[in-house]
Amino acid sequence: MMELALRAARLGLGTTAPNPSVGAVIANEATGEVISIATTAPGGRPHAEPLATLAAGHRARGKTMYVTLEPCSHVGHTPPCVDAVLAAGLARVVVAQEDPDPRVAGRGLDRLRSEGVEVTRGVLGDEARWLTRGHIVRVTERRPFIQLKLAVGHDGTVPRGGAGKPLFVTGDVARTHGHMLRARADAILVGTGTVRDDDPDLTCRLAGLAQQSPVRVVLAGRKLPSTSSKLANSAAKAPVWIMASARTLAANEHQADSLQKAGCRLLQVGEVGSRPWLPSVCEALVGEGITRLLVEGGPTLWHSFAVAGLVDEVRLFRAGVETASETADKTKPPPFLGDLLPGLALRFVDRRLLGPDDMTTYRHDQQRTERSRST
Ligand SMILES: NC(=O)c1ccc[n+]([C@@H]2O[C@H](COP(=O)([O-])OP(=O)(O)OC[C@H]3O[C@@H](n4cnc5c(N)ncnc54)[C@H](OP(=O)(O)O)[C@@H]3O)[C@@H](O)[C@H]2O)c1
Repeated sequence: MMELALRAARLGLGTTAPNPSVGAVIANEATGEVISIATTAPGGRPHAEPLATLAAGHRARGKTMYVTLEPCSHVGHTPPCVDAVLAAGLARVVVAQEDPDPRVAGRGLDRLRSEGVEVTRGVLGDEARWLTRGHIVRVTERRPFIQLKLAVGHDGTVPRGGAGKPLFVTGDVARTHGHMLRARADAILVGTGTVRDDDPDLTCRLAGLAQQSPVRVVLAGRKLPSTSSKLANSAAKAPVWIMASARTLAANEHQADSLQKAGCRLLQVGEVGSRPWLPSVCEALVGEGITRLLVEGGPTLWHSFAVAGLVDEVRLFRAGVETASETADKTKPPPFLGDLLPGLALRFVDRRLLGPDDMTTYRHDQQRTERSRST
């Protein structure tokens, strides 16, 4: 049942910011019947728990709710979810994890217990914490969940685009997967080098998911992106934010003006060595409600995020695996991640074949980071 709730939560990724995407299932434990399933609504409200109780109606009485995050107990823009759970007459609530938001932090579970509801917590907690990581790090570290997407050739080299055209490194299946990552992100970020060389669109072009295009963010160094770029010319279609230091904005005042007139939003951030300082970028993004950030590149930005230790997950797409002599052993990661992202403590999660290409997932390794800090 919790697997089902996690699946429901996954459906809302990229649509609920600044709120987390939560999944809730109401089921009859005795018979195994699933009575209702709900996901946090687009925009973050209503939350999953009242949607699940509403759908279940009187059939929720005496039954069990499985929910991926502790129900909230405070009055925000909506009444507390705990009230909906109690009003529905649920006998038991199983939660995957407590909510680190100081307004909740165990109080939701305490209230349920004090009202006689049986509470079980920690079921599939690891997976739920990963799914909700955007919310967790927003509350605890004032930054979004940061996912790096890298596309490389079979030998780990980074093919470069140019002449204002993106270079498609991988095939259709892998590219479709890449667009799914965009749909599940609140914002997508590139540097001015990628805008200059590739002139990308950065929208989600999956059929039916175009409205899930993330906010498109450009980090500007000394120069601002061109006013004739596709991004600047499509700012009315999906938001474009340009983040730059006060110095860069002042030095390029005229261009900044034209970009603003084209509909781009300019956000001033702190700088270090003439480039935006990434902790300041993260703070600004969180302040604007971004909880999941997809960094698409290019290599200069990947490097900056790696050096700053600001990486939660890496999706490494590699071209042409099927045609290579190597056997498709899915338990082995490709050998070159350390060259692309030096100094990062990441653990290999899995490798999937995507048509002729593959995708390897790595996640931030808390224990290794702490060990390397203490030595
Ligand atoms: N294979 C892939 O997955 C992939 C993905 C995207 C792009 N690319 C390729 O990458 C190439 C572009 O490479 P790139 O490295 O120049 O692109 P980039 O990382 O998109 O842009 C780098 C520029 O961003 C600016 N910047 C702003 N804040 C920064 C910060 N905190 N840290 C570092 N840079 C910051 C800098 O401008 P200043 O120098 O003015 O300071 C820097 O030169 C293109 O050929 C493109 O095809 C490949």
